[in-house]
Amino acid sequence: MSEDIKKTIEELRSQLNDYAYHYYVLDEPVISDVQYDKLYQQLLELEKNYPEFISSDSPTQRVGDKPLDGFKQIKHEAPMLSLGNVFTETELIEFDNRLMDLVQVGEIEYSAEPKLDGLAVSIVYEKGKLKQAATRGDGNVGEDITANVKTIKAIPLLLRGNNIPDKLEVRGEVIMTRSGFNEYNRQAELLGEKTFANPRNAAAGSLRQLDPRKTAKRPLMFYAYSLGVVSQELNFESHIETLEWVKSLGIPVNNLNQTVMSAKGCQQFYQMVGEKRPSLNYDIDGVVYKVNNLQLQKKLGFVTKSPRWATAHKFPAEEATTVIENIEVQVGRTGSITPVARLQPVVVGGVTVTNATLHNEDEIRRKDVRVGDTVFVRRAGDVIPEVVKVVLQKRPENSQPFIMPIHCPVCETLLVKLEGEAVLRCPAGLYCDAQRKEAIKHFASRKALDIEGLGDKLVELMVDEGLIKTPADLFHLNQQDLINLERMAEKSANNLLQSIESSKHTQLDKFIYALGIREVGEATAMTLANQLKSVEAIEDSTAEQLEELPDIGPIVAKRIRQFFADKHNLKVIQQLLDADITWDKIETPTADSQPLLGKTIVLTGSLSQFTRATAKAKLIKLGAKVAGSVSKNTDILVAGENAGSKLTKAEKLGVEVRDEDWLLGL
Ligand code: IVH
Repeated sequence: MSEDIKKTIEELRSQLNDYAYHYYVLDEPVISDVQYDKLYQQLLELEKNYPEFISSDSPTQRVGDKPLDGFKQIKHEAPMLSLGNVFTETELIEFDNRLMDLVQVGEIEYSAEPKLDGLAVSIVYEKGKLKQAATRGDGNVGEDITANVKTIKAIPLLLRGNNIPDKLEVRGEVIMTRSGFNEYNRQAELLGEKTFANPRNAAAGSLRQLDPRKTAKRPLMFYAYSLGVVSQELNFESHIETLEWVKSLGIPVNNLNQTVMSAKGCQQFYQMVGEKRPSLNYDIDGVVYKVNNLQLQKKLGFVTKSPRWATAHKFPAEEATTVIENIEVQVGRTGSITPVARLQPVVVGGVTVTNATLHNEDEIRRKDVRVGDTVFVRRAGDVIPEVVKVVLQKRPENSQPFIMPIHCPVCETLLVKLEGEAVLRCPAGLYCDAQRKEAIKHFASRKALDIEGLGDKLVELMVDEGLIKTPADLFHLNQQDLINLERMAEKSANNLLQSIESSKHTQLDKFIYALGIREVGEATAMTLANQLKSVEAIEDSTAEQLEELPDIGPIVAKRIRQFFADKHNLKVIQQLLDADITWDKIETPTADSQPLLGKTIVLTGSLSQFTRATAKAKLIKLGAKVAGSVSKNTDILVAGENAGSKLTKAEKLGVEVRDEDWLLGL
């Protein structure tokens, strides 16, 4: 009987360890989280009743039950080094040339790896069992964080495979995933606990946690990038081979690592990873190049604190600290009031940033951002820079909380907060100069009437000078009006008049979009145009009738009704029509013009020639219904780059799959 129990426990244990290996190392989960938890609970229960069969590599043994008094110091058997840096392609070429000179070879192969932005950790396995883990510290002496590292599920407690050296030290980076970080901060905020400025600080804070039970709840991940001290000769020829072996032992190794030739290959890798950076689920601050051949590494040796055979190539930082000089509020096209921080200029992600959004009143209060504060500013990819966190230690003594204005800073109307909304709004609509300007900018923008040469600054100037009040006024401008404007020469005035004239012939969907109805984007405008075929028909539709149209829900329907209930809006529409704005008649669809009639189509992955909205609009125009998820009712799945689970599901269900070229050719 007890032999049977022992066997069951062993089986469960090895099963769970196997699932974790598939999940963390191979990145190919074989069971769901729920199933895993169920098995884990079974093991826990059995071990509770038969504690004599608990083994130190059981997943249940990751967490101890009491906090530590402090961290012991650990001397590294071999120092943990750092890396030299290159910042430009020229410096990279110099690095490569220097090494080629030193070892007298014509071309060097490198292992190119992402530079993970977390904490360097050393993990020592003895006879395959995790014995000790330490921080890098000053490179010679670190802190004993064994109890915390054991809680990281990606790190095996027992290595897989045979012929494992008696002693094996693996080095790598502990990181927190971006999704885990966001979720952690959200929870912490709800509970009124400390939040972290970025995933790196969160990972560091988690490892320095004296209570491992708390660390266990943090979403940490680990990737190995080198070996430390090993008790026996390993006979590998290259660094990459070594890492492959480490992976086979059940330790995660980053899947972007690859070998490249020469500075050229390194630079290509840098570019490729730089492009992937915004879509990764973890922060990286650059890439690392290491001479791949271990004999060459040995020949090259070390300088004081870093290997001569490796270097880091840093990305421009996505985050920086600066000081808030002022907080101002901006009025958007729909009256939304957005607080904006005016910053001491700072370079973030290679671009000088002087403004950052503070989103809304709740956000300012939550982060308690004040004028004079030193703050972390973040800019990732193309997104608007934002203030991430205040450095409270640097707050000036006399600082005051920021108070949102109660009147519109432009037209002085009393601001309102609508039910269910986080933002304050100026309800003055087009009577507010700020909203007027934004409405006209929107009207002239590329996806709307596309008036070339009518930039934002020019619109602002024309409104300030009293030249135009509504989009309709654009069509009554003459050459003299424009020449009177600062910096407007005769030629550019004529060009602008010409492009205003040619914008008059448009398409109904563009015209509807140009009106700037809240919640009506390109795709909705297209639906309205195709289904109702005229502005009058839209104006005459009730909310219920609008809701019957594909993809129009109660909120959008309500916004459309509100827009057409406003006399001022109706007047502007009439003026626009009086100015001879025209569009081609919308033909009643025939089988020819609507080849996708009755088809349900799903979009997935990223498309290069379309936005989601334009792809959807095109499909709708051709008669298709566009759905959000794949089911047995789906007729076609259009799969772009990096399509994921929807594609898998479509293939499973035998749904026809098409690519972007098909969409382009329609
Ligand atoms: S190798 C002897 N590889 O960067 C070379 N380091 O500036 C030791 N890091 O302390 C480091 N990703 O924390 C190496 N793929 C990678 C890395 C990496 C991140 C960190 C590591 C190290 C620091 C050196």
